[in-house]
Amino acid sequence: MGQNLTPMDGLADARGRTIESLRVSVTDRCNLRCSYCMPEEHYVWLPRPSILHYEEATRLVGIFASLGVGRIRLTGGEPLLRQDLCDFIQLLRVCGSVRDLAMTTNGVLLGRDAASLKSAGLDRLTISLDTLHADRFRRMTGRDQLDEVMRGIRAARDAGFVGTKLNTVVVRGTNDDELESLIEFGRREALEVRFIEYMDVGGATQWSRDHVVPRSEILARLGARYGEPTPMHEPSDARAPADRFALPDGTVFGVVASTTVPFCGSCGRSRLTADGHWFTCLYQPEGVDLKTPLRDGASDAELRAIIESTWRARTDRGAEERLAQLTRGPLYPPDTLRENPHREMHTRGG
Ligand code: GTP
Ligand code: 5AD
Ligand code: SF4
Repeated sequence: MGQNLTPMDGLADARGRTIESLRVSVTDRCNLRCSYCMPEEHYVWLPRPSILHYEEATRLVGIFASLGVGRIRLTGGEPLLRQDLCDFIQLLRVCGSVRDLAMTTNGVLLGRDAASLKSAGLDRLTISLDTLHADRFRRMTGRDQLDEVMRGIRAARDAGFVGTKLNTVVVRGTNDDELESLIEFGRREALEVRFIEYMDVGGATQWSRDHVVPRSEILARLGARYGEPTPMHEPSDARAPADRFALPDGTVFGVVASTTVPFCGSCGRSRLTADGHWFTCLYQPEGVDLKTPLRDGASDAELRAIIESTWRARTDRGAEERLAQLTRGPLYPPDTLRENPHREMHTRGG
């Protein structure tokens, strides 16, 4: 962490939201092609020389930590595609400034990596899984790798990860008949399932309102099958995007209702791309380039001043603004995404 920086508590933005968690994307590449995230034939990738070295990213994380960010989530693309990811985890651990270190992965490579991630010091895992049917998995992701993901889930448990979550993006007409089987899978495997409303983020070029299954419907469906879900009382510092519920038998699940009930009012999240651009909102068109000053020799204090002033001025409420739009289709057409890959969800971190 920056040696010359005094830690700060509670840096608030213009709407009073405290900077809280940072999602660090380590690569924009992915080994799946999920229909809600990467449905196109061709993608423009970030140039390799622009990708932050682990030492550079660790330095930035340290500066964020000095401003009060205690929770880091590694994302991608698919983070396990980045070589020697465990070295990064160890660096983050050695610098000592990260309270909670989690990762979101599609699970395909977890069978290979779960044990080493655990010994490197990763605290928590979230695994994306949208279906339990192999043929549907192939259709939704473009790859025939459900078995690998299942192996990855077992490997995570065997490696000692607890509190692992499953992320399921619910797409009407595609996997919305699997709410119950996913709940039961989660219960059997001690995984907390979170149903995520399909979002019109950059990259979701096939998004339409008709494909969104709203939280209200998810709750009604599960209620009809298992009995009324009860909202959980969360600790006041809980900032997770999921609202958590318990079924009468005690099974806990979450719903991330970013599309129909946005949670911008309490959003303390921001995202760092693999090439060092910092986004203070998922829907923000342009980020702040931290890599250029970093590589031009800016001091920790100078970098911290950029981050601090940007956060103080932050007014983002992207998902709420999208909700207010009467006509709503995909956020960007594919050619504008190719012109600016930073707009892709897989670049700024899923
Ligand atoms: P922890 O609180 O660290 O456990 O993580 P999390 O709950 O943020 O988990 P995760 O990263 O799995 O987020 C779940 C999903 O919520 C993401 O995959 C996105 O679909 C959605 N999401 C995450 N962050 C944001 C955000 O800042 N804005 C919106 N609108 N949606 C988000
Ligand atoms: N809608 C909702 N969630 C999405 N993700 C990516 N694209 C979308 C989208 N269009 C999230 C999923 C996935 C994670 C990697 O990114 O939660 O699990
Ligand atoms: Fe935060 Fe933007 Fe997501 Fe709203 S849309 S919750 S402000 S990242």
